[in-house]
Amino acid sequence: MTKDPVPLKAIHHIEFWVGNAKQAAHFYRTAFGFNQIAYSGLETGDREKASYVLEQGKVRLILSTPLSGDNGISSHIKKHGDGVKDIAFHVNDAAACYKACIERGAKSAAEPTELNDENGSVTHAAICTYGDTLHSFISHNDYSGPFLPGFVESNVKGDSVGLRFVDHIVGNVELGKMNHWADFYAKIMGFTQLQHFSDEDISTEYSALMSKVMESDNGRIKFPINEPAEGKKKSQIDEYLEFYGGPGVQHIALLTDDIINAITKLKAKGVEFLEVPDTYYENLTQRVGAIDEDVEVLKKLKVLVDRDDEGYLLQLFTKPVEDRPTLFYEVIQRKGSKGFGIGNFKALFEAIERHQAERGNL
Ligand code: FE2
Repeated sequence: MTKDPVPLKAIHHIEFWVGNAKQAAHFYRTAFGFNQIAYSGLETGDREKASYVLEQGKVRLILSTPLSGDNGISSHIKKHGDGVKDIAFHVNDAAACYKACIERGAKSAAEPTELNDENGSVTHAAICTYGDTLHSFISHNDYSGPFLPGFVESNVKGDSVGLRFVDHIVGNVELGKMNHWADFYAKIMGFTQLQHFSDEDISTEYSALMSKVMESDNGRIKFPINEPAEGKKKSQIDEYLEFYGGPGVQHIALLTDDIINAITKLKAKGVEFLEVPDTYYENLTQRVGAIDEDVEVLKKLKVLVDRDDEGYLLQLFTKPVEDRPTLFYEVIQRKGSKGFGIGNFKALFEAIERHQAERGNL
């Protein structure tokens, strides 16, 4: 096997561009239990934007907001609303990863640059992926600060719900573009295709979608790519594309080792989740076999279960976390299964469609 030309260690962080980062940071601290660990803004000499860094387990989010109407973040928010701008990778050599991607046809977003402050330096570069979304490469050159150069420590503790790391991040792309972006991850970034779901696998009475799951060489980064498929009515992917103004990140799945605890806490903190009907829990163990959890507890929390050859998983999806029906979260616990819960897609999509209908978008 040839050496991976773009070796990625892990997801370094996910950056959101939002209309009001101070309030968004409050939401992630109080509703999701993140710690706020770093900040940059006017007080640190940044005249363009304010950014809050939130952390739980290995999950790191940056929430950035523009400080004036005439910068790129403002126009991004005008078009997309709040959303994911950058899925950044931690790498050993950002410049080499960038160069390998550009040589293989990636579009540049930022050439390799050394970012410095009194705590040392990191190298940063970025390429474009679907829509207006970017992938940054970050390599730490003995950097010892709280986050990245320019950030200062901001220590506001959240009450953790036990989220450990990013399990997968799903992108929605336009009709006919799934293969293009699956190829992008395969040919430019050296990912392999893990799974392919056709519209026959993923359809309800009204809508359908297709999905390919791409995985990095070390298996730590998984990116399913969805595209809408022909259905009787507008699919949830079409609804997303319309309201986000194009392709973008649809959901971020966060892994926990105790989903019952996580969902109990998240619900108590006010996070809103999709609800499947109680009938989902009739014959659940006949469908998925014996499970460690009490079905009555799962039913009360509306946690979903799916099984494949290797084991099972438990998962639950939030409602969109902004007013536009765009980005949402998944909380997932894996007990052997490396899948994505295909057995739940139908029940789940029907739950989404009930909300789509309420929004006048079905
Ligand atoms: Fe997912």
